[in-house]
Amino acid sequence: MLSRKRKIFFLLLYVTTVSVLFNGRQSARFVNYISHVLETRSCACQKCLSEGEPWFMDRYNQSVKPFLSRKHGITEDIFNWWKRLQGDRSSFNNYTEAIDKVFQMIPDKDHNTQPSPDKCRSCAVVGNSRNLKGSHYGALIDSHDIIMRMNRGRTQGYEIDVGTRTTHHVMYPESAKPLPNTTHLVLFPFKTKDFRWTINYLPPSSHKYQPTKNTIELIMLSPAFMKYVHENWLLNPTRTYPSTGFMAVVLSLHMCDEVSVFGFGADSDGNWSHYFEELRNKLLRTGLHKGPQEYRIIQQLFELQKIHMYKGW
Ligand SMILES: *[C@@H]1O[C@H](CO)[C@@H](O)[C@H](O)[C@H]1NC(C)=O
Ligand SMILES: *[C@@H]1O[C@H](CO)[C@@H](O)[C@H](O)[C@H]1NC(C)=O
Ligand SMILES: *[C@@H]1O[C@H](CO)[C@@H](O)[C@H](O)[C@H]1NC(C)=O
Ligand SMILES: *[C@@H]1O[C@H](CO)[C@@H](O)[C@H](O)[C@H]1NC(C)=O
Repeated sequence: MLSRKRKIFFLLLYVTTVSVLFNGRQSARFVNYISHVLETRSCACQKCLSEGEPWFMDRYNQSVKPFLSRKHGITEDIFNWWKRLQGDRSSFNNYTEAIDKVFQMIPDKDHNTQPSPDKCRSCAVVGNSRNLKGSHYGALIDSHDIIMRMNRGRTQGYEIDVGTRTTHHVMYPESAKPLPNTTHLVLFPFKTKDFRWTINYLPPSSHKYQPTKNTIELIMLSPAFMKYVHENWLLNPTRTYPSTGFMAVVLSLHMCDEVSVFGFGADSDGNWSHYFEELRNKLLRTGLHKGPQEYRIIQQLFELQKIHMYKGW
């Protein structure tokens, strides 16, 4: 019998050889497999996201930084991809100027989203589907570490079905609503103007570098992350870009080790509507988004047991 140390030595030698012979993605998958064998767990849950299936590992890239910081800015190439989403006419200079202005007002944090062997982080991603009505998911949703809601989603008056806590609220200017000062504002930026908007949105107490416990904290999704979702997860369709809900699900795969998805999809009658309002057109209309394709990927994540999915019926 080889000793454990010698086993590890040979495995590492093998990994190095394999890394040289194969491309980055294959060797990344192999290294994941090896760390699984050696039981150096990446997180403290029963199961960690970075373990397993090729379908998932082909799409999931843990090295992509979800959030903007001064250190993790974007290249001009990524800017040029991003500005086309909504026909932004700004120059790269305009963009960097706007970002600089925001970082004069908020702390420049390095948002570490990497898993850690001593933590098991659970996320609830709560969409706005009407299938939440009567679901009684409130307590279950509230039991997660991170609770992410989006756009005009609300809790007041719907607590039994959707819960009370919101740690992260995903918004862009056109979908904005006032937030309590215990919730992180996660800006999904679609144009340079959106960064200037956040400066005015932040309450005066957030305008200083004063990390008090209860001030709204602004976090900005990186355009590089949006491009990653578009290319790695949606396989680069033309003339569309990922929806907020889909990006939030992929984001949660990067922030958490266990992900539960609530309030996505149609209700039990097949109508698409919101739990807090009646949509006039109840057919799936996703504008520039590949709704059915996104939903299939979420379904696939569920079938591979990468996420839990709560459909409300
Ligand atoms: C993962 O993302 C990093 C950072 O963006 C990039 O450098 C790397 O090439 C990506 N890896 C794969 C396998 O796509
Ligand atoms: C963008 O940059 C150009 C050239 O530097 C400048 O003339 C223009 O006013 C800027 N636009 C905005 C909205 O700041
Ligand atoms: C946050 O909101 C609560 C209640 O609305 C208020 O009592 C508290 O002072 C606020 N904290 C900050 C730092 O604004
Ligand atoms: C769902 O849509 C169908 C057809 O449009 C309608 O008859 C039904 O009442 C709707 N159900 C709800 C709960 O809105």
